[in-house]
Amino acid sequence: MAPGDPILGLTEAYLADPRPNKVNLGVGIYTDEQGRVPVLKAVQQVEQALARDTQPRGYLPIDGLPAYNKLSQELLFGEGSPLLDAGRVATAQTIGGSGALRVAADLLKQVAGDRARIAISNPSWGNHHVVFRTAGFQLQDYRYYDEATRGLDFAGMLEDLGKLEPGTVVLLHACCHNPTGVDLEPVQWAQVVELVKERGLLPFVDMAYQGFDQGIDADATAVRMFAESGIEAFVVASSYSKSFSLYGERVGVLSMIGADRDEAARLRSKIKQTIRANYSSPAAHGGQLVAGVLASSELRALWESELGEMRERIHAMRAGLVQKLAAHGHEFGFIQRQAGMFSYSGLSKPQVERLREEFAIYALTTGRICVAALNTQNLDYVADAIAKVVG
Ligand code: LMR
Repeated sequence: MAPGDPILGLTEAYLADPRPNKVNLGVGIYTDEQGRVPVLKAVQQVEQALARDTQPRGYLPIDGLPAYNKLSQELLFGEGSPLLDAGRVATAQTIGGSGALRVAADLLKQVAGDRARIAISNPSWGNHHVVFRTAGFQLQDYRYYDEATRGLDFAGMLEDLGKLEPGTVVLLHACCHNPTGVDLEPVQWAQVVELVKERGLLPFVDMAYQGFDQGIDADATAVRMFAESGIEAFVVASSYSKSFSLYGERVGVLSMIGADRDEAARLRSKIKQTIRANYSSPAAHGGQLVAGVLASSELRALWESELGEMRERIHAMRAGLVQKLAAHGHEFGFIQRQAGMFSYSGLSKPQVERLREEFAIYALTTGRICVAALNTQNLDYVADAIAKVVG
C-alpha cells in the first residue's frame, strides 16, 4: 500500500466524517460565505454561451488552445512585455499547475541528466518534492520560514541560494507561499533575482495564486522582475484552479523562457514532445472557459472584481480569526500578516489531531490551515476549538 496523500487524503477522511459540524481547513480550496466552492459569474456566462452553441469535440493541439496560451502569457508577463514581443516564451496549456510542474520537470531532467538538481524552500507544498523526486531530480532545501518571527528567514535564504551549484533549478513561490503565507517584498525579490543571475541558477517560479494577495499585476512582481532581469532562461508554472475557482477542470499553464525566438521554438518542441509522451493533449472545456473570460474585456473586468471579492473575504476571515482568538487571550496577529489562502498557524501535530478528533476540524499536521475555508458561520466554532487545543 502506498501512503495516503497528506492533503487530498485528508479530504477523503473529511468527506467520510459523519459529524455535521465538520470543517475542512486542509486542502487549498476557496469556499464562500455558504461554504461552497463558488462558480464565478464570468465563468458561468462563458459556460452558458458554450452550451448554446455546442461544438464538435476534436482533440486540442498538444500544447492546448492557442487563445488560452496567448491570453495566459499576457496575464503572466503583462501586455506589451518585451519578452513576448521578442517571441522568447514557449507556453502550453497543462493539466493543472501540477501538470505544468511535471512536464517541466521531465523536460529539464531529460536535458540535465544526472546533474538534475532542484532547491526547494523549507517548507514547501509537499507535492513539489514528490513531483521533482519522481522525475529523477536530486532535492535540496533552502531556508525560508523563520519559526521564531513567523516570518521570512531572508538572510538564511540568500545564504543557501548563494551556495548552490550553478545550473541548479531554484523553485520559488511567486506569491501566497504555500504552506506558510509568508512572501518576499519587492526589494527582496530584486535581491533574489540578482543572486540567481550572478550564480547562474535556473529560476522556476510557481504561481498558483495570482490575484489572491493583491491583484493580477502586483502578484506577478517576481515573474515580471525575472522577465526584466536579462536572465536568459527561466520557467513559470501557473494555475487557474484558485483564481477562476475551476479546481476540477485542471487548468494550468507552463511557460518556458529561452534566450531568443529560436530557443523558444526548440523549447516549444520539447514541451510538446513531453506532453505527448505523458497525457497526449490537455482537456478542452476548462481552457475554453478561461480563454472565453480573458478574451472579453467585459468578462475579464467581472472576473477581476469577483477575484477581488474572494481576496477581500479572505482578509476579513484572517482579521476575524485573529480577533476571536485574541478575545480568548491568544495572540495570533501574525495570521493577518500572511498572504493568500494559507496560514502556518503554529499549531502542533497533537493540537491538529485534537482538532480533528474532538471537533471535526481538519488541518494539515504541519499546522497549515486554509483560511479561505473560514466563513462567518464556522469562524466562532473554529476559533473556540483552536483556543481550547492551545490551552
Ligand atoms: C493545496 O496545497 O492544498 C492545494 O494546492 C491542493 C493540492 O493539490 O494539494
